[in-house]
Amino acid sequence: MKGIILAGGSGTRLYPLTKGQSKQLLAIHDKPMIYYPLSVLMLAGIKDILLISTPSDLPNFKRLFENGNHIGLNISYAEQKNPNGIAEAFIIGENFIGNDNVCLILGDNIFYGGGFTKLLKKGLEKVNKSNDALVFGYYVNDAKRYGVVENDQNGNVISIEEKPQHPKSNYAVVGLYFYPNSVVEIAKKISPSNRGELEITSVNQFYLKNKQLKVELLDDDFTWLDSGTHESMLEASNYIHTIEKRKGLKVACIEEIAYLLGYISKTDLMKIAEPIQNNPYGKYLMEKVLK
Ligand code: G1P
Repeated sequence: MKGIILAGGSGTRLYPLTKGQSKQLLAIHDKPMIYYPLSVLMLAGIKDILLISTPSDLPNFKRLFENGNHIGLNISYAEQKNPNGIAEAFIIGENFIGNDNVCLILGDNIFYGGGFTKLLKKGLEKVNKSNDALVFGYYVNDAKRYGVVENDQNGNVISIEEKPQHPKSNYAVVGLYFYPNSVVEIAKKISPSNRGELEITSVNQFYLKNKQLKVELLDDDFTWLDSGTHESMLEASNYIHTIEKRKGLKVACIEEIAYLLGYISKTDLMKIAEPIQNNPYGKYLMEKVLK
């Protein structure tokens, strides 16, 4: 399975913060926002990753991750020239995806919770075996801001709608999706929505019509945050800060994950950590991870 991180968008909702740089490079507490979705793909065991962003932001992501080899990954890059919607990622990524299945994650989504790795692996296996698409639902107060999924007791999807005026459930569709290879052709078939975008929800509706859409609901003790407004960014930073301080552990520390997964050696990690051992991030790697 291949992985795509979509880190596009003009970020006007966060101006002037995003006038000089991409939203997904802004800080969520102690690391760039994009570390969080990247860590999710890593926990799913996905190593081949395509990062899609705007032509002007792409060089900054390249500077941050290079080819990803230092954390045991193969990261490649592609441009989304205009904000044409999430589903365009599969058209842009067609050659990268090749004959594989694909997991898409949005660059501003933050996940935290026990049993996440298991859930990801189970999802990945399910899609590889069944050829069904898999989305995740999370109970929220303000579902109309999101894609909304309605399901029956057996996990079958009844409806899925994008930012409905009258949501049929409280379950928002989170920005993490597993698809069979057919998603590339489906993305080419759908038409732009009223806001002129190729909606990921249109792709999901296509799978629903074919009875190939499954939903997994995330437990209440699980946390899903998005970071699309000044307030939600601050809340996410505070949340991560609180957990990290309380536990003395880091969330979405991609260098630690690479080491724990055996992608890189002690020496490799030392090379990353030593030059920054005077800051808390480097100190954590040196004193907690490499202890
Ligand atoms: C997008 C999707 C929406 C999904 C959300 C998750 O919304 O269109 O279905 O629930 O991401 O973050 P957007 O961020 O484009 O408003």
